[in-house]
Amino acid sequence: MHEDYNVFVKRVHHKYGIDLSLYKQKQMMRRTRSFYERYGFLSYEDFFMLGLTVDGEMEKRFIDRITINVSEFYRNRERWMDLRRLVLPELVAQNEALTIWSAACSTGEEAYTLRTLFSDQPKRDIKIIATDIDELVLLKAKRATYSSKSLRELLPHEVTEYFNNEGDNYTVKDRYRKSVTFSKHDLLNDRYMKGVHLITCRNVLIYFTEEAKDRILKRFVSSLTDGGFLFVGSTEQIFSPERYGLETYGSFIYRKTPLHEQ
Ligand SMILES: C[S@@+](CC[C@H](N)C(=O)[O-])C[C@H]1O[C@@H](n2cnc3c(N)ncnc32)[C@H](O)[C@@H]1O
Repeated sequence: MHEDYNVFVKRVHHKYGIDLSLYKQKQMMRRTRSFYERYGFLSYEDFFMLGLTVDGEMEKRFIDRITINVSEFYRNRERWMDLRRLVLPELVAQNEALTIWSAACSTGEEAYTLRTLFSDQPKRDIKIIATDIDELVLLKAKRATYSSKSLRELLPHEVTEYFNNEGDNYTVKDRYRKSVTFSKHDLLNDRYMKGVHLITCRNVLIYFTEEAKDRILKRFVSSLTDGGFLFVGSTEQIFSPERYGLETYGSFIYRKTPLHEQ
């Protein structure tokens, strides 16, 4: 079954280091097939040999297509308000310096959203490390310029406060960019950092198989400090969080159970 697809998956893994076998198969097949059909290819074999291997532009667009990069500032605003209300006071009260990881950050909106959440804590030492597998989106994230479409969840005074505006270009102000860094990281392959107080990983776990998701969640927990927080997307509820040493702290917010309570 799906022999053509399975061979393609192996080739993509070998050539780009992206392991599509860990993404939900039906969904990924639909995405990849509709992509190559648009270019008039009839099989994965032809698409790989006559398309991807010879056309750099198509290659870039393909990676962009399979990584699914939609994002916006304060996406699902209510959830961000929960995070601000429930988690921020706790984080700030307990730590002088904070390390925050925006995992699968796409074009950076989530990482800057995090920075703006701390706007009334100007003196605090806050490091936001934002990562994604896709280098193209990271370039855009570093440029920090967006169109009004990405800002539709923001209130007018927030737009003025956080951005410099020229026409339909909104660039994040320097003071909100300073403590945010971007780098490439594959959640399925690369090493995970340690000592993180808050991880946000939103709207990407849904694309992975259960097995891959399970592995990622375990590794997130080992990245977190005791009592550290994990914030996931609004369709990514974790069932039986205690399996991972997590407890539910709010809607889509989990806390690593401090050691003495485990
Ligand atoms: C829909 S975006 C989510 C962006 C942001 N977190 C949000 O919720 O608005 C999904 C992102 O996951 C990234 N991604 C997909 N597979 C990944 C992997 N294995 N490791 C790291 N990032 C990955 C994609 O490149 C894409 O930018």
